[in-house]
Amino acid sequence: MEDQIKISPSILSANFSKLGEEVLALEKAGADYIHIDVMDGHFVPNLTIGPDVIKNLRPLTKKVFDVHLMISPVDNYIKSFAEAGADIITFHPEATKDISKTIGLIRAEKKKVGISLKPKSEIKLIEKFLGKVDLILIMSVEPGFGGQKFIPDVLNKTKKIRDILRKNNLKADIEIDGGVNFDNCSEAKNAGANILVSGSTIFKENQGNLKKNIEILRNN
Ligand code: DX5
Ligand code: ZN
Repeated sequence: MEDQIKISPSILSANFSKLGEEVLALEKAGADYIHIDVMDGHFVPNLTIGPDVIKNLRPLTKKVFDVHLMISPVDNYIKSFAEAGADIITFHPEATKDISKTIGLIRAEKKKVGISLKPKSEIKLIEKFLGKVDLILIMSVEPGFGGQKFIPDVLNKTKKIRDILRKNNLKADIEIDGGVNFDNCSEAKNAGANILVSGSTIFKENQGNLKKNIEILRNN
């Protein structure tokens, strides 16, 4: 699944007073996925949206809802996010006592499984699960807020994970998330990421020209 580059705009940087319109605008602008950042004010020092918002957005578009759960504990909420319409459910290993169980809960809902590493989290935390997930989300900022500066150290980790996947002929996607912009997107891709998340760059650059910004990230 690591072939072409996908762009997954984060609606954390969207105008929350008109999220439906913003999702439709992203679809029209050529987004591949819609990245939905769920924060509980406990796993991260910020609060965003819950399953009911996703349920309301779901009928608007067929686009993949790439749901990033920055919540802990996470197991009790997987079913509600799945039923709300998430297509990919990504969790943080630090948010569960049993990674296999959490993967199983997402699989039971017939959703794609993503696992995420914070900038300082080591590969060994997830290495034995790389063959059991569809997506590895490598955070290039500390989770919690949009508009932060990209942490280049994570590129090494990205390369190492891509190498492990290739060596073991594993087909998971690598998604890089946080501070991705026009200057660092090509090195993120060269390091092995095939899905780029971006919030502030897509919504703010070029007077908010979503289509142009998505294209630059995809083609640079
Ligand atoms: C941060 C979120 C990211 C963030 C990306 O905790 O997981 O998805 O919204 O936004 P930018 O691209 O502005 O860093
Ligand atoms: Zn995210």
